[in-house]
Amino acid sequence: MSFLSIQNLHKSYGATPIFSDIDCEIGQGEFVTLLGPSGCGKSTLLRCIAGLTGVNGGRILLGGQDLVPLAPQKRGIGMVFQSYALFPNMTVQQNVAFGLRMQQVGKAESAQRVGEALAMVELGDFAARYPHQLSGGQCQRVALARSLVTRPRLLLLDEPLSALDARIRKHLREQIRAIQQELGLTTIFVTHDQEEALVLSDRIFLMNAGKIVQSGNAETLYTAPVDAFAAGFIGNYNLLDAEAASRLLGRPIGGRIAIRPESIRLGGQGGIEAQIRSHSLLGNVIRYRVEARGVELLVDVLNRSAADMHASGQRIVLNIEANAIREVA
Ligand SMILES: Nc1ncnc2c1ncn2[C@@H]1O[C@H](COP(=O)(O)OP(=O)(O)OP(=O)(O)O)[C@@H](O)[C@H]1O
Ligand SMILES: [Mg+2]
Repeated sequence: MSFLSIQNLHKSYGATPIFSDIDCEIGQGEFVTLLGPSGCGKSTLLRCIAGLTGVNGGRILLGGQDLVPLAPQKRGIGMVFQSYALFPNMTVQQNVAFGLRMQQVGKAESAQRVGEALAMVELGDFAARYPHQLSGGQCQRVALARSLVTRPRLLLLDEPLSALDARIRKHLREQIRAIQQELGLTTIFVTHDQEEALVLSDRIFLMNAGKIVQSGNAETLYTAPVDAFAAGFIGNYNLLDAEAASRLLGRPIGGRIAIRPESIRLGGQGGIEAQIRSHSLLGNVIRYRVEARGVELLVDVLNRSAADMHASGQRIVLNIEANAIREVA
């Protein structure tokens, strides 16, 4: 049975529909990521669940109870916003305790729970500081502690890591995942970073223009995109129309196909004749742009040694495994 059930949710701003029939089911303790391009409606969906904006129709059931008629503070939901606004005139301790004060939790219990929440985000020594005395990453951790301390039934995280550098981002996302698993917290995490979605999630909901276009685990989304949008958004698929695909593969292909760049092998015996157009170094991977039979393709190769590098203009053969070719709508 699902813990959070969203049924036929409809939301417009004035005459502009943002989404019209969102349906999804999320299990207790599940970590779900909403992934999609800017403007597709991710934040709006979270704000509807949290009750920060009204809905125009549909139901949001949490543990069987419809949230739609409830005020935000009655919903038992913790939220970290895309722009994590801390109260500047309050210390870290006071910021985190704020939600408990609203719930009229007693002083002693509040102090204990704030201490636990700060320890969880490794900020125990920072309780007396003010937000302007913290780094961006520390502020985001305070925002996280502030949402955890009220022991929400559901945690909504709207790009909580977007302002951080790559190293802290990686560290903090691991912390979030660990805390979420330790507390068994049902969580919806919004990002437009596909890598983040792939590493963190039990399940990913891929959104585009107000619709959930595909949902599944990381492997499903990565290896079996349902359509050209999904293939374009996750991984760096080569998308070919039927004509180009037929020319490249030398046999009739009926529709559009997608080929992942790392599933094309360069060199070896036999295969399709091709020429290197250019390459770029992505750290551990070299991404080649090659041309074969008038079709341009991206090919990713693990960067093992400088001796493996192919120069622009070099002629080469490439091989594409049959099971790496996916038809997409
Ligand atoms: N208060 C509002 N009034 C009118 N339109 C709005 C309002 N808030 C958001 N929108 C519009 O709703 C659409 C969805 O916005 P939303 O903030 O949900 O996108 P998002 O997927 O979170 O994007 P991003 O990744 O950039 O944060 C956008 O086209 C946006 O312009
Ligand atoms: Mg947003």
